[in-house]
Amino acid sequence: MEFYVDIADLESIKKVAEYYPIDGFTTNPKILTKEAGKVEGLIPQYRKFAEENDVKVFFQVTAEKAENMLEQAKKLKAYYGKYLVVKLPAVKEGYKAVRLCKAEGICVCVTVVHSMTQALLAAKAGADFVAPYISHIDNIGADGVTAVEEMVMAFENGGYPCKVLGASFRTADQIRRLATVGCQAVTITPEMFDLLIGHASTDASMEGFRKAWKETFGEKQISDFVPE
Ligand code: E4P
Repeated sequence: MEFYVDIADLESIKKVAEYYPIDGFTTNPKILTKEAGKVEGLIPQYRKFAEENDVKVFFQVTAEKAENMLEQAKKLKAYYGKYLVVKLPAVKEGYKAVRLCKAEGICVCVTVVHSMTQALLAAKAGADFVAPYISHIDNIGADGVTAVEEMVMAFENGGYPCKVLGASFRTADQIRRLATVGCQAVTITPEMFDLLIGHASTDASMEGFRKAWKETFGEKQISDFVPE
């Protein structure tokens, strides 16, 4: 499963990458507003980060018309090259833009997906990723995990090489369930990474190890017992 961090703050991205094996980072227009005043400076820093770590960067177009989306995507592609995934919204103009972008060799993620049928047409149009918003789907009385399961099956049945990139999570359990239905990728907040690995029983066991060691060996470390 691919893991992305859903944030635009470069220091947070670097911190997550230091601890966890991420495949890149994802942004959306709202996330980028948190970096207002810094975006221009961040653009080259994002590229440096992508090149140094060989990871993907996701940017969403802000245009409304397909032709303008394409122009934005081309400019982003010229700058970010193979590291770019351009996010196109799951609206009519976005669907038109998918094939325009694919014809230019641009990697595409159809985003803000809330139904299996939106995902199906995105895959059919040639999208490389679809990004269903899991919690939003749950909140409208459907089941985000079931929707993803159906997308994975439909893509397999139709022979579409499109990955499902789960987005918008509220619980670690949603991610656990997505992994079991064959979801290929998720994008999550930095906090969610910590939540995924955190376990009270692990902490309790570690405290037991620490106490027993200290009572017996004091300040000595395991490496102190190894001959030079
Ligand atoms: C995905 O790329 C989106 O940025 C994100 O997951 C949206 O989630 P939210 O609307 O729950 O913040």
